[in-house]
Amino acid sequence: MQTFKHNGETAENPPESLSFRHLLGAGDISKADLETLLDRAAQYHIDARNGTPIAQACAGRILAALFFEASTRTRFSFESAMLRLGGQVISLEQGMASSVKKGESLADTGRIVSAYADLIAVRHPDAGSAAALAMESRIPVINAGDGANEHPTQALADLYTIRHDKGRLGALTVGIAGDLKYGRAVRSLVTLLGLYPDIRFAFISHPSLRMAAPPEGATVTDKLADVIGDLDVLYVTRVQKERFADPAEYETVKNAFTLTPESLARAKKDMILMHPLPRVNEIDPAVDALPQARYFEQAARAVFVRMALLALMQKPMPVTI
Ligand code: NCD
Repeated sequence: MQTFKHNGETAENPPESLSFRHLLGAGDISKADLETLLDRAAQYHIDARNGTPIAQACAGRILAALFFEASTRTRFSFESAMLRLGGQVISLEQGMASSVKKGESLADTGRIVSAYADLIAVRHPDAGSAAALAMESRIPVINAGDGANEHPTQALADLYTIRHDKGRLGALTVGIAGDLKYGRAVRSLVTLLGLYPDIRFAFISHPSLRMAAPPEGATVTDKLADVIGDLDVLYVTRVQKERFADPAEYETVKNAFTLTPESLARAKKDMILMHPLPRVNEIDPAVDALPQARYFEQAARAVFVRMALLALMQKPMPVTI
């Protein structure tokens, strides 16, 4: 049996264990899980930077990437993560080209795909779809975005960049701006940051795009200028056009928030500016040159976080037929 350098880990025997089998929402992740995952991601990041060969922790494993909704970063970084760990990928880029189009349930789809892969990453426009797929799945399911509900792997990637650039996860003032009503990345991010003490949230959005139930004590405003000088992190999001029942309503809010170098003039020098991407109108490209801009690094580092997830979530395939 081949031995790998991360604590002698093998594909059959991952030594560090996580408390969850499926990753359906940020609430599945304990603080211990989070630290295990971020530490492993940091190790992959260092290895990549040093040119150290990456332990092939997923050799012989197959990831099924089932995407029923548009994606660039999430799908590519999952696929790249699996390939970098020596695994392979089978993927449905257009989920509606699958038997789901013929009326097959997500539960049946999960059951069937379980026989062909070792892990599933799924993105789907319906809230609860990852849970439905996991119901009959015999292999771990990772929610890569279910409608306006959750996007837990994005939140893990976000915490990785916050920890990397700020050196800590507690004692931070975090501003979150844009679409707080439909943004799934925001929902998962707020849950994960909630594991840490002394996080003060400021939510900045058009009144119609506010969060339904912001955490207690949070500042809620429609003016960035009210809070910009206090922030350690500013996390900006896209207005989620595809979630609006009424396209006219989207038109009224699509330009409600655009960040320019001027609007950041009073930001702390060591504030970090993040965005899950893609951006549309929310960040003027002139902002990219500012020292606070970290969204491209945030996206690039996500691959190390997804590598950590795949390496630590994989299980020996249960063949029962
Ligand atoms: C986010 C998503 O899909 O929710 N994108 C991503 O995964 N990086 C954010 C968005 O689409 O606005």
